[in-house]
Amino acid sequence: MTATPSPRPRVLSGIQPSGHMHLGNYLGAVQKWVEVQDEKECFYCIVDLHAITVFQDPKELLEQTRGVAALLLACGIDPAKSALFVQSHVRAHAEGSWVLNCVTPLGWLERMTQFKSKADKEKQRTSAGLLTYPVLQAADILLYDADEVPVGEDQRQHLELTRDIAQRFNHLYGETFKLPKPLIREFGARIMGLDDPTAKMSKGSSGTRGHCIRLTDSEDEIRYALKRAVTDSGREIQFSDDPEKAGVNNLLTLYKLLTHKSREETEADFSDARGYGDLKKAVADVVVEALRPIREEYDRLISDPAELDRLLAIGADKARALAEPKVRLVKERVGFFVPG
Ligand code: TYM
Repeated sequence: MTATPSPRPRVLSGIQPSGHMHLGNYLGAVQKWVEVQDEKECFYCIVDLHAITVFQDPKELLEQTRGVAALLLACGIDPAKSALFVQSHVRAHAEGSWVLNCVTPLGWLERMTQFKSKADKEKQRTSAGLLTYPVLQAADILLYDADEVPVGEDQRQHLELTRDIAQRFNHLYGETFKLPKPLIREFGARIMGLDDPTAKMSKGSSGTRGHCIRLTDSEDEIRYALKRAVTDSGREIQFSDDPEKAGVNNLLTLYKLLTHKSREETEADFSDARGYGDLKKAVADVVVEALRPIREEYDRLISDPAELDRLLAIGADKARALAEPKVRLVKERVGFFVPG
């Protein structure tokens, strides 16, 4: 008798369509999304509902949503293998999120470090959505019974909260949600800014020249940013936990992940280097070569919005097939009158 094959683990992750996708997004998350497509059942979501928790210019948001979709496909997300969809196309996310909001204690949300850092900057204008942002993220994940969530280090706290919310709901209303596991890489989970290796590379207003490398940057822009990357006054080119060496560590991490070399092979490549200049040049060469095909494929895809929309509609259908029955179950569990 042949054993029934066990179902493939289900993966869900998301990315905001605000700002431009950068190397931190790619190496911390998207490179892994592409890798796991063959052996896992994958759902990747462009989270426009999350993006508007801070004001977005409507025209830009629309452009960025298609832009991120094109970039994800250009990075290797294959719509034949993975469901790639826009969050607002699947109503269940907003519905599920409301119910989960009502089981989440306020204190849990006020403790979130991402909320605290964003809210501190603009206290008066902070939206209620920014506070409840992680609950929507929990809905994104829990509605799919995801087993694994590949993300960068900055999302760890949100995933812990997701598990807490799932447990609380299960406790109050009976076993409903699976507890997902974060998939956080050892290397690349926190790519740092090139101009300041103590701060995470980010898309925000610090997305100035020299801070981050965007996936659509030109060769000149990439070389400019890497040439000026902040390092230290030493010469040693090795991975290190020493905060003083954070700049060099960051450059070695970029090199390692883009060449798919081991830590030892990466260090060996620089054993004869004359100084950090050699390292920066080598990293720039590798980044330029890695991003070239992505940029070319992006240019091709973005020029055909009808095809992009068609692929996103297929992704949304696949997503709805899971999320709709799940949100229906959630409504039944809390005692809503769900018409037949
Ligand atoms: P977002 O859009 O900020 O980032 C998308 C992914 O990129 C990772 N990332 C980084 N990784 C390494 N180094 C960096 N400097 C860096 N910057 C960003 C993020 O960790 C993330 O994995 N809240 C999420 C989006 C989201 C989501 C979800 C994720 C909404 N629903 C459900 C997982 C599951 C966010 O704002 O990611």
